[in-house]
Amino acid sequence: MAETGSKTGDFKVTPWEVKGDIDYDKLVQRFGTEKIDSKLLERIRKHTGELHPLLRRGIFFSHRDLNWILDEYDKGNKFFLYTGRAPSGPVHMGHLVVWQFAKWLQDKFDVEMWFQFPDEEKFLFKDELTLEDTKKWTYENALDVIALGFDPKKTFFLIDTVHAGLMYKEACKVAKKLNFSTAKAVFGFGDDTNVGSIFYTAMQSVPAFLPSVIKGRNRPCLIPAAIDQDPHWRISRDILPKIGYYKPAQIHGKFLPGLGGMTEQGKMSSSEKNTTIYSIDSEKEVRDKINKYAFSGGQVSIAEHRKNGGNPDIDVPYQWLTFIEDSDAKLKKIRDDYVSGKLLTGELKAILIDEINSFLKEHQKKREKAKSQFEKFVYKC
Ligand code: TYM
Repeated sequence: MAETGSKTGDFKVTPWEVKGDIDYDKLVQRFGTEKIDSKLLERIRKHTGELHPLLRRGIFFSHRDLNWILDEYDKGNKFFLYTGRAPSGPVHMGHLVVWQFAKWLQDKFDVEMWFQFPDEEKFLFKDELTLEDTKKWTYENALDVIALGFDPKKTFFLIDTVHAGLMYKEACKVAKKLNFSTAKAVFGFGDDTNVGSIFYTAMQSVPAFLPSVIKGRNRPCLIPAAIDQDPHWRISRDILPKIGYYKPAQIHGKFLPGLGGMTEQGKMSSSEKNTTIYSIDSEKEVRDKINKYAFSGGQVSIAEHRKNGGNPDIDVPYQWLTFIEDSDAKLKKIRDDYVSGKLLTGELKAILIDEINSFLKEHQKKREKAKSQFEKFVYKC
């Protein structure tokens, strides 16, 4: 099972469940990935000019074969990006953070993005969703992706049930090399798992080599995503060379916590309405959820807070700012003021509310405009 425990055995990371206080160093060891070190950061910076805040702050922290991707890029063999979203409900801030980073990679390296919407995934894995629901969420979620500004000439949406004619044949090639025992070991499937769920990982492998199939030559693939998706890539990396393609490379991000905090609630998740900020939330919903549910590292009284200060390391609003505030100087001042007791919990929450609401105001306008662009992004066979 793609699951791991901390010293007290209390965290879990699978593509379908993330829980507990994650020890990311331990996760890297268990998953067998590599940490992004300062040498690799410097190598990226040489290409990009500046480092994205999520790289500077160690939020995109782990990788597989990123040095190889850059070696090939330096030789003129450009990679393509591949990421995705399994439509099951509205997009939340955790998704947006990953995709903003992916868009930055697209801009800086001037590369294609292949974006998968596996509209069968959550249908197969969740009892309550119909294929009509996931079709609706595919369109709604795609608007968020478009709103982030991906280049329409270089971005291609693959929707599993729409592009089945193109993808199924390739998925069969992967599935033929995947034993049930491996799928069980990687994903923890049991005798009661439906066979669609067991096959599904083959479909998630396809976009990692489909652009190579289409071009008729092998092309390097880089996948930016949070680290929960890594079990799928272990399978892709094992099988793709056996069917004639490169192993896909990855760059892994940490999870944006739910408003209740990582320990209590785990990563932000679409199904937890009160502790999740969605891209379509109103200003009032954002304000109310953060004020009511965001876990605070502040003290119980103002007097005590002024005296002892707050703890930013467990404070969810502060953690969130490390994901979304661009300015290092502003972030440092917030941290210092919070630790010293100068900045109160309510004031810290107000900073976060303002930042999210001003971002969402613009995002929601762009999302409306995206409605006329959707067809342009869907890959034409
Ligand atoms: P899904 O729809 O659960 O999530 C979409 C993307 O968002 C990331 N993510 C998060 N990142 C930071 N903080 C969080 N709280 C958080 N929650 C989710 C996920 O890592 C993912 O990158 N099986 C996939 C869909 C998929 C895919 C892909 C994802 C198909 N092909 C290729 C990445 C790359 C899924 O269920 O993602």
